[in-house]
Amino acid sequence: MLQGPIVILTGAGVSQESGLDTFRCEGGVWSRYDLEDVATPQGYQRNPVLVQDFYNARRRQLEDEAVRPNPAHLALARLERDWPAPVLVVTQNIDDLHERAGSRAVLHMHGELRKGRCEACGRVLNWPGDMTVDSRCPACGRNGLVRPHVVWFGEVPLEMERIFQALDTCALFLSIGTSGNVYPAAGFVAHVRERGVAPTVELNLEPSNGASLFHQTLYGPAGTLVPRFVEALLRGDDLGSV
Ligand code: APR
Repeated sequence: MLQGPIVILTGAGVSQESGLDTFRCEGGVWSRYDLEDVATPQGYQRNPVLVQDFYNARRRQLEDEAVRPNPAHLALARLERDWPAPVLVVTQNIDDLHERAGSRAVLHMHGELRKGRCEACGRVLNWPGDMTVDSRCPACGRNGLVRPHVVWFGEVPLEMERIFQALDTCALFLSIGTSGNVYPAAGFVAHVRERGVAPTVELNLEPSNGASLFHQTLYGPAGTLVPRFVEALLRGDDLGSV
């Protein structure tokens, strides 16, 4: 029976049934915006107002009462509560739905939408409302140097040391709702396989770019698949039977 710590990588697909768009699916975020304009330091330099407005719109969407944790988020929070070893969610998502579902061990490797960072004093700040190019840092008082606490393309993802420590000691690696397009997250499964100890499982709507690297793959909506998988894990079922 499987025992030991679990690492769960999540991507935009886990929040899709909560009403948040993914990036690369039909009609996704990158079909409406050029990522070079809104998700790179160069884009921010060129047009900070466009970038602030892009994240303000996504931050406001989180305030929409229709945007709530879905059964996949809730099942992962339950797994953390009921599993006899640590369960770590490593999310590429910048929404707060894992936390709102009750997950406590969550690492946001691409940052968090409801946080800002002051480029003058470096402080990371809770920022639930709109941010503008004139926003004042409540910590140091400087104006106009607060940016979204989001990791843009070309920037270094957050918490990588803790993530690799967890990957190197996990007994199970799950990947949920990610296309496997963006590194280093897309490389986590290969890293776990190199170690050759933990089973690796992909739960997604369709095969990701890294699908062939997983010991087991299950396809369908996360809101249906994840609760079923968590139930089977907690029952001690053989993973292959899920
Ligand atoms: N249930 C499960 N999987 C789903 C669902 C769903 N309801 N809906 C979509 N998916 C899957 C898609 O099949 C796709 O494989 O989720 C994946 C979403 O892929 P992307 O849109 O590429 O999102 P993600 O993998 O999280 O992107 C990674 O890229 O743009 C950057 O910083 C951004 O964190 C993001 C990173």
